[in-house]
Amino acid sequence: MTQPALDLVIAALEKIRESSDSAPRASRTILGRLRPADFVAVSLPAASASPSGPRLQGASNKAQLLEPIRERVCACKKCAHLASSRTQTVFGVGNPDADLMFIGEAPGVDEDQQGEPFVGRAGQLLTKIIKAMNFGREDVYIANVLKCRPDTPSGTFGNRAPTSIEMQTCRPYLVEQIEIIQPKVLVALGAVAVEGLLGMRGTMRELRGRWHVYNGVPLMITYHPAYLLRNQAPSEKRKVWEDMLQVLERLDRPITERQRNYFL
Ligand code: URA
Ligand code: SF4
Repeated sequence: MTQPALDLVIAALEKIRESSDSAPRASRTILGRLRPADFVAVSLPAASASPSGPRLQGASNKAQLLEPIRERVCACKKCAHLASSRTQTVFGVGNPDADLMFIGEAPGVDEDQQGEPFVGRAGQLLTKIIKAMNFGREDVYIANVLKCRPDTPSGTFGNRAPTSIEMQTCRPYLVEQIEIIQPKVLVALGAVAVEGLLGMRGTMRELRGRWHVYNGVPLMITYHPAYLLRNQAPSEKRKVWEDMLQVLERLDRPITERQRNYFL
C-alpha cells in the first residue's frame, strides 16, 4: 500500500472510532499482511538492525505502537473542561509487553502533577500489592479509563469520580491500549473502572472475586486500593489478596505457602 492509500485507511478508521462505541477491529491475518510490507518500514527498525532477534522486536513493536496513541491523548481536547483544567494527561506506565494489566478510574491530584498513574496514596498501596504478587511496577502495565484528572472547584481538596460521559469519551484510548498490549489477564480496580471498561454498573459485592471476560481477555474485578485505605479491616485486604491469588494462578505463576497465607 502506498502512503496516500494508508492515510485514507487511517482517516476512515479514525472516523469509525469517533462515531462508534468500540475501536475498529481488524483480523490478525490482515494486520499481519499489512505489517511486513508497509508498517515495518515506517514503524520498526529494520530486522537486521536488531541484534537480539524477533522477541525484542516484538516487544519494542508494542511500545512503538503505543506512541501515536500517547501523542493523540497528549493533544486531546474531547472533554474541553478537563483539557483546560489538567496539568498534563496521564497515559499509562509499565511494560507494553506485560501479561498483566491493571485498570483504574482516573488520575488524582498526584497523578496529574507527576504524569504517571497510581503514584499517590492509593497508588502506593497498589504498588505494594503488585510487589506482594512478586512483580514490579515495571513488569505490569497500569492505565486508567480517564487520561485526565476530573476537575474540581478551585480551592477545594480531594478528587472526584469521573462521570459516565467522561469515561465514554475517553474509553477508546484504553481500548486501543489493551488491543496493543494484549495482556493475558486484566484487573479492573473498583466499580467505576468496571463501568468505564464494560459500560456495566454493579456493586463490588456482586462483581469482585470471579472471572469476567473483556474482548476475550480474562478480567478479574477487585476493590480499588482507595477502598482499602478507607476500610482498614484485614478481611477486606484478604478479599483483594484472594482475587490476586486467582490472577497469579491464571498466569501460571508460582505461589509460595507464605503468599497463600497473607492477611489471614
Ligand atoms: N486512582 C485511580 O483510579 N487511578 C490513579 O491513577 C490514581 C488513583
Ligand atoms: Fe481527551 Fe480523555 Fe482527557 Fe477527555 S479525559 S480530554 S477524552 S484524554
